[in-house]
Amino acid sequence: MSNSKQIEICENDHVFVLTGAGVSAESGLATFRGAGGLWEGERVEDVASPGGWKRDPERVWRFYSMRRKAALLAEPNPAHAALAKLEHKLGERYFLCTQNVDDLHERAGSRNLVHMHGELFQSCCDSCTREPFTDKRIFCQTKAEQLRCECGGHIRPNIVWFGEVPFHMDRIIEELHRCTVMLVVGTSGVVQPAASFVHWANERYTGGSAVVRTYYVGPEHPANAEAFTRVFQGKAGEVLPHLFAVL
Ligand code: APR
Repeated sequence: MSNSKQIEICENDHVFVLTGAGVSAESGLATFRGAGGLWEGERVEDVASPGGWKRDPERVWRFYSMRRKAALLAEPNPAHAALAKLEHKLGERYFLCTQNVDDLHERAGSRNLVHMHGELFQSCCDSCTREPFTDKRIFCQTKAEQLRCECGGHIRPNIVWFGEVPFHMDRIIEELHRCTVMLVVGTSGVVQPAASFVHWANERYTGGSAVVRTYYVGPEHPANAEAFTRVFQGKAGEVLPHLFAVL
């Protein structure tokens, strides 16, 4: 049985979940916008853009080292656990796309996920096409000159910066085309292309009726709130554990 405060998931439903910084907020990781956000202390252009990397790579490494340190100390919260539990129940009828670069979804048990903005604990080369590699090192005083690739390029965080192309878009679009339920959690809905996913889902019709039921969970209405079938207002860690009625 389900109640009106729940999302009914039937046996033919395919669930597409998109998460943002809000899903990690109750784990103590700062979101980007709003009071105390990451962008309050730093300018995006200086630490999350190719231009900022070119101008001051040490500053960029200090910013991401601070984020690595915070993420290493953080623990998954009940929101991460609830999503991992839903994946366990639905199997291949579940897909998670996160804008987050922390590894809290994985540490809570999520497996079928992509990080469209990259991963904090990976680094790559800014010049050659070598595979990104696991890297949990914290660089506070290291000179970027010391972080060289064999090709002569510089080692950088494997993060998608503003102006760069998000990762895994082919897979994301494929999953957007097959989902019947979209759940968006903890994102302000201002950064593209993620902010458009709900609009793309709303464009899918069969026989004159919408195919996808779309839901948002967060304490504030996101910029694209009007696009959702329903908004569940509240903290992800408090709402998600009781949200799903898998029939
Ligand atoms: N539970 C759910 N949502 C929450 C919680 C919580 N406990 N606390 C805050 N939120 C919501 C806020 O209301 C806000 O809407 O999380 C959202 C965080 O928004 P942003 O800080 O803009 O983060 P996000 O939307 O993930 O940013 C998207 O922008 O800066 C880039 O690449 C970066 O991936 C990031 C992208």
